[in-house]
Amino acid sequence: MSNDADALKRRAALAALEMVPAGALLGVGTGSTVNLFIAALAANPGHVRRAVSSSQASSALLAAAGIEVVDLNEVTGLTLYVDGADEATARRELIKGGGGALTREKIVAAAAERFVCIVDERKLVTRLGRFPLPIEVIPMARELVARRLRDGFGGRPVWRSGYLTDNGNHILDVHDLVIEDPVALERELNQLAGVVTVGLFAARPADVLVVGTASGVERR
Ligand code: 5RP
Repeated sequence: MSNDADALKRRAALAALEMVPAGALLGVGTGSTVNLFIAALAANPGHVRRAVSSSQASSALLAAAGIEVVDLNEVTGLTLYVDGADEATARRELIKGGGGALTREKIVAAAAERFVCIVDERKLVTRLGRFPLPIEVIPMARELVARRLRDGFGGRPVWRSGYLTDNGNHILDVHDLVIEDPVALERELNQLAGVVTVGLFAARPADVLVVGTASGVERR
């Protein structure tokens, strides 16, 4: 990550911290932007004491920051979910999963009253799909799903070889998709046998987009 990108991500992360009520039960996403958010939490001890995490990587950082990581099954709801994205539109529809944590991210987002997405301005797009769409698949179905993606959707799936998700599954990164209707595509791809999670966050988009820009922070 370049220093410039790092600075913009940090701006978004710090702005998100201001949106977190003291004592909130927080959902925490995954990735370099979220890591900056966790660092901001660590610099404000006691502001948040408990969180549900979307990945083993974030759990380790949260624990190191003195924040108790709780099982989603042990709580009834989350006040807020803070996570990054690989692409975001003005409608706050997202592509996520560059870091491979999309399944748990989608679960934690679904449990949260409010989803605050933190990005730097380079992630903003008018149409999703320049970033290859990550899809988590059951390993035995990988090639079956890849064929369906090629034949039925015109995509070019590339297996993230050598990588296993926290759930023990594979990821296909799908290039060249034309995403005109993200909600419909998310629904259709979700129905392919063997697909665990699609990295489109459109049926449940972010509620707020916090964008770190060269001139400051924009909230959308
Ligand atoms: C991980 C994700 C991340 O939010 C996404 O990849 C953005 O990461 P970064 O903040 O490092 O740019 O979806 O699965």
